[in-house]
Amino acid sequence: MDTKIIKIDENKLDRNLIEEAAQIIKKGGLVAFPTETVYGLGANGLDEKAVKKIFIAKGRPQDNPLILHVHSTDQVKELVEEIPPVAKLCMEKFWPGPLTIILKKSPKVPEVISAGLDTVAIRMPENNIALDLIKTSNTPIAAPSANTSGKPSPTSADHVIEDLMGKVDMIVDGGNTGIGLESTVLDLSTDIPMILRPGGITLEDLSKFIPNISIDSSIIKEDEKIVPKSPGQKYRHYAPKAEMLLFSGQVDSIVEAIIVNTEKYTREGKRVGIICTDETKNFYKEGLIISMGSRNNKESIAKNLFNILRTFDHLEVDIILAEGVDLSNLGIAIMNRMMKAASGKIIKL
Ligand code: TXA
Ligand code: MG
Repeated sequence: MDTKIIKIDENKLDRNLIEEAAQIIKKGGLVAFPTETVYGLGANGLDEKAVKKIFIAKGRPQDNPLILHVHSTDQVKELVEEIPPVAKLCMEKFWPGPLTIILKKSPKVPEVISAGLDTVAIRMPENNIALDLIKTSNTPIAAPSANTSGKPSPTSADHVIEDLMGKVDMIVDGGNTGIGLESTVLDLSTDIPMILRPGGITLEDLSKFIPNISIDSSIIKEDEKIVPKSPGQKYRHYAPKAEMLLFSGQVDSIVEAIIVNTEKYTREGKRVGIICTDETKNFYKEGLIISMGSRNNKESIAKNLFNILRTFDHLEVDIILAEGVDLSNLGIAIMNRMMKAASGKIIKL
């Protein structure tokens, strides 16, 4: 398949180009587009045949449900059984933005979207290209992250091109995404509001409005036996080509352990990649060293993480030694992604 690549400036929307992308969605095709979190791979969310193409292009397991993206809260009404007050409040406070809300679905939502569950995940992205595309397409757009299943989510059009060129009809290049990690998935379909995937909106943000919020215990525990409530969380994800070891604990202990391990693997003739922070980068004397940003700026760490994982693929390192961060604010989301990238190989210090 020929993939057309177009460039759109989020702050100066080209109506003709958006119209062209919307035509593809309306006709049942696939369009990759930017959101504020990561790039999404979009199809008409009410067209079962179109949605099935997403699974094929990504190589995504069929039992992993998709998020429907909307441009207005009005669009939500026909997709769900009801909007409970807590969901209404979350939409008012956090939409458009990186919060996905799970509610009981209406019969209008195709089976393939919800993967057999009786719920549906919905979000309103905070990106003018995405919002205008949804509006012009005149339908909710189903969109998982626009990567090959298992790889890090794409934070630039180049990442999408790397994974999906020739497999989708169009890629809309809208520059680098701002947040760099996916949305928070919040289940509001039961009496206990629960975070199923940590993301761009933090537990701290949500607790202000939902005092009884909880977090799926599988998110921060490495115990493989705890089955996550969100199907997507059980798969290997964000995986770089190289093996990755994640070091967590006090920063000075982390640095010490990474230095020792770098020496060891280098002696074995391995090419070592180090994922560090601005505060620690000067301590390392060998290995390929990339900083995620300052430990005081989790936003920058979140924004850079997936790109660094892909960069180490290109640099063809044999092993990645990565510094962990504390769990406050975006820290939970960052560590959740890093733990998956490391396939659970965490060294606690
Ligand atoms: O930021 C994001 O959320 C990005 C952008 C493109 O919007 N999208 C994204 O989609 O990350 P995806 O498919 O890569 O991840 C969606 C997650 C998966 O873990 C999936 O299992 C979960 O949401 N999910 C979707 N519907 C669900 C449902 N009804 N119940 C539980 N989990 C659900
Ligand atoms: Mg994904």
